[in-house]
Amino acid sequence: MRAALCRTHGGPEVVEVTQVDVPAVAAGDVRVRVDTAAVNFPDVLVVANDYQITVSPPFVPGSEFAGEVIEVGAEVTTVQVGDRVFGSALVGAFAEQIAVPAGAVTVVPEGVALDVAAGFGVAHRTAYHALRSVAGLRIGEELIVLGAGGGVGLAAVQLGKQLGATVTAVASSSAKLAAARRCGAGNLVNHRDADLRAALREALPDGADVVIDPVGGDRSEPALRALRPGGRFVTVGYASGAIPRIPLNLVLLKGIEIRGFEFRSWAMRHPEEMARNDAEVLGLLATGKAAPYVEARFDLADTAAALAHVAAGRAIGKVLLSVSGR
Ligand SMILES: NC(=O)c1ccc[n+]([C@@H]2O[C@H](COP(=O)([O-])OP(=O)(O)OC[C@H]3O[C@@H](n4cnc5c(N)ncnc54)[C@H](OP(=O)(O)O)[C@@H]3O)[C@@H](O)[C@H]2O)c1
Repeated sequence: MRAALCRTHGGPEVVEVTQVDVPAVAAGDVRVRVDTAAVNFPDVLVVANDYQITVSPPFVPGSEFAGEVIEVGAEVTTVQVGDRVFGSALVGAFAEQIAVPAGAVTVVPEGVALDVAAGFGVAHRTAYHALRSVAGLRIGEELIVLGAGGGVGLAAVQLGKQLGATVTAVASSSAKLAAARRCGAGNLVNHRDADLRAALREALPDGADVVIDPVGGDRSEPALRALRPGGRFVTVGYASGAIPRIPLNLVLLKGIEIRGFEFRSWAMRHPEEMARNDAEVLGLLATGKAAPYVEARFDLADTAAALAHVAAGRAIGKVLLSVSGR
C-alpha cells in the first residue's frame, strides 16, 4: 500500500511517500481503508522525536483518520465491515490502510462526510473535555482562547460559544482571527499587534472566567492575569515550544485555579465523564452544530509539505490529507 514513511527522525522533509506492507490485524483490531487523515501538531513532534513517546523509525506517521472498516479481528463486536468510522492512533494514519484497536474508532454519524469526521476527533474532543469538564464552563461566562486560529483553539471557540460563553480569541494574524470570528468569537485580539496584557484588559475590563491555553510560552501569563478572582486556567499544550513558568503569587492573590488536561490520563481517571462528553460532542457533529474548520488540504503525496505547514504554525483550524484521492 502507499504510505508516508519516516525512515529517520527529523524535520517534515524526512517523510517520503512510498510502498509499505499492509499492517497486520490482531484479534481486537479493525483494519480501516483510510479516506482522509488529519495532520496534527503532535505528528510533527513524533517525526522529530520531540514527543513524550519515542517511536523508532521506520514508521508511518499520522494520528487521525476517517475511512471504511474493511476487516475486523476475531474478538471485535463493536464495529463491522462496511462501517464508516473515524479514529486516532499514535502513528499509522498517513497510509491507505491502518489497523487499530476497535476501541480507537467511532462510527461516523449518518450524513457526516468522511473528510469532516477525519478532522473532528482530536481537536473537538480535546476542546470539549477541557471546556465542559476541566474548566467547568458555564452559560454566560467569559472565555479566553489562546491559539484561537489553531486546531484545538478554533474548536474551543466554536464549542465555548455552543456552551453559552462569550469568547475572546487571541491569535497571531487577521486571517486566524477572521476564522475565529466565523466560529463565534466576540472579541478578537492579535497578540502580534499589541501588548497582550493591555489588550486583554481593554477587551475584558471585568476579567475573564476561563482561559484555554494550547500554546504556552509568553502568552500564558498575560492571559492568566486577565482572569477575575476565582477564574480557571486550563493548560492543554505548548505549541509555542516553551513551557511557561507562572509566578504563584498571581494564583494566590486572585484564588485562581490552574488545571491540566491530557487526553489519555484524563480518560483513565474519568471514563464515565469522558463517555458522556464524547456522546454530547458527537451529537453536536451529527446535528451540524460543530464541525472542524478546514483551511488546507493536501494529497498523501505531499505529506511532508502538510507537516511543514503545521510545524510553522501556519495552519488555520485543521489540515487534511486526502488519502483515497477523491
Ligand atoms: N492535552 C491534550 O490532550 C492535547 C490534545 C490535542 C492537542 N494538544 C496540544 O495542543 C497544542 C495545540 O494543538 P493544535 O492542533 O491546536 O496546534 P496548531 O493548530 O498547530 O497550533 C496552535 C497555535 O499555536 C501557535 N503556534 C504553533 N506553532 C507555533 C510555533 N512554532 N511558534 C509559536 N507559536 C506556535 C499558533 O498560534 P498563533 O498563531 O496564534 O500564535 C497556532 O495557531 C499542541 O501542543 C498539541 O500537542 C494537547
